[in-house]
Amino acid sequence: MTRPAHSLATAPIMVLNGPNLNLLGLRQPEIYGRATLADVEDLCVRTAAGHGGTVDFRQSNHEGELVDWIHEARLGHAGIVINPAAYSHTSVALLDALNACDGLPIVEVHISNVHRREAFRHHSYVSLRADGVIAGCGVQGYAFGVEHVAALLAERADG
Ligand code: DQA
Repeated sequence: MTRPAHSLATAPIMVLNGPNLNLLGLRQPEIYGRATLADVEDLCVRTAAGHGGTVDFRQSNHEGELVDWIHEARLGHAGIVINPAAYSHTSVALLDALNACDGLPIVEVHISNVHRREAFRHHSYVSLRADGVIAGCGVQGYAFGVEHVAALLAERADG
């Protein structure tokens, strides 16, 4: 089945969060800060609303569930903002799912600057498909991710 040409007016942006991000605000606050995932959802909702859009905000600790949600976004969403968390560095399955989303704007977000951390965090499978990658901007990176999906959709509508 081919993808309908979605805009922010017709479909939400899927904002996906990988493992352990349910503990945001509690887990290693010196690295990830004190904002909770509910705060991040609120930020994404407000940012998308500024572009006349909505978000579908989800978190899972399970790789297969994230794969299923990417399949859902493939047809039903305007774009994806994803913080794959530890699966960034391990998951060919997430990359394959994202590679099945032809033409869908995808932005990868990391709260921390993964390049200033352990070497195993320097490689991300997801980056091979992402249209943009944001790292080290704290939870504000999610707002930048939503903004960039909106910008890519606007560019495509104009072009
Ligand atoms: C993270 C960075 C990953 O390396 C780590 O496994 C996470 C969070 C970030 O947002 O900075 O869980 O994606």
